[in-house]
Amino acid sequence: MNYVDYLQLKNLLSCQQMESERLAKPAHDEMLFIIVHQVYELWFKQILFEVDSVMEIFEKERVNEESLGLVAHRLQRVVTIQKHIVDQIAVLETMTPLDFLEFRDLLVPASGFQSFQFRLLETKLGLRSRDRVSFAGKTLEKAPPPEEESKSLFVLIDRWLSRTPFLKMRDFDFLINYKVCVDKMLLRDKGLIEGNPSLSEDGKQRQLAALEVTRHNFEALFDRNIYDELLKSGERRMSYDAALASLLIFLYRDRPIFQQPFHVLTALVDMDEWFTTWRYRHSLMVHRMIGTKIGTGGSSGHDYLKRSADQHKVFTDLFDLSTFLIPRSQLPSLPKELQRKMDFIYSSEEERAS
Ligand code: HEM
Repeated sequence: MNYVDYLQLKNLLSCQQMESERLAKPAHDEMLFIIVHQVYELWFKQILFEVDSVMEIFEKERVNEESLGLVAHRLQRVVTIQKHIVDQIAVLETMTPLDFLEFRDLLVPASGFQSFQFRLLETKLGLRSRDRVSFAGKTLEKAPPPEEESKSLFVLIDRWLSRTPFLKMRDFDFLINYKVCVDKMLLRDKGLIEGNPSLSEDGKQRQLAALEVTRHNFEALFDRNIYDELLKSGERRMSYDAALASLLIFLYRDRPIFQQPFHVLTALVDMDEWFTTWRYRHSLMVHRMIGTKIGTGGSSGHDYLKRSADQHKVFTDLFDLSTFLIPRSQLPSLPKELQRKMDFIYSSEEERAS
């Protein structure tokens, strides 16, 4: 084995064919353009590799605690790559818009739209075709097979969360206890607004109305039927049981049993946030490179990309859950027996002997 053969460098380094050179219309920056795109596709390949391995773990009937550490670790690796590829945009931005014009027309109709790996990744994470921003009624080129949608990471995570055993224990009903605390908190907030001497009558009414909206939001958590209406209207995507389980994990994440699930959920939020960051960053770069011209793939360009950055998040429900967090000091305390079940039980040799 040697370095050149192992990495197949002869193949790899012969893949940078400049159109400008082939057509004898020299454009120095095309080499950078090709290499940056190729490097992205390699990173997409690595991200897909990690995501596939995580999905394999969640496809099993039972996900054991040990594999959750691995899942969190691999998702964090994806996040690290994402941060890195957001930074890479700056390398391409050393090409000025005028230099890009030297070869842009030679690329039509090639476009990032045709990045099959990018589409596959979006779909594997859980972006459904109906969630996508449409542009002039066109359908996507090279869309991944629809069956990918029904077994996405989103779907697998939802199933896993729905199986959390701690929502209704013999001696502790999470929802009933949590509702008591929320009602207390809202009552206290109401008192604070009504008793605030620096607020005008108008200001008070506005804040009380906002508090009513908050109360209404909470109602959906306490009532499966209201929640189901939100699911139907598309305001929520995560199932009711999965949403409650995530809330439980976020609220009681200090309990050892919830630490790994908490890291997994946090990594999913990070991943979504960094994809969105990439999309925003890419759309900004496109704006400065081509202004408001349409893209080589036929979209409105910058405008389409900006809208897709807003709309193409997958784990929005996990972001929204922060609405329902209450301070640790106001959380319902868990019965001793349940606390014991949620901790890692360990007794040393000496303790056993004594
Ligand atoms: C000069 C630099 C770039 C310009 C001007 C540019 C322009 C565009 C435009 C206008 C679109 C919208 C589709 C269209 O109408 O063609 C697009 C989509 C896309 N581009 Fe770029 N791009 C650049 C660099 C990159 C790089 C470095 C990547 C890395 C892989 C990339 C990946 C993508 C992907 C994946 C899409 C599809 C996004 C989606 O549909 O959400 N682009 N690009």
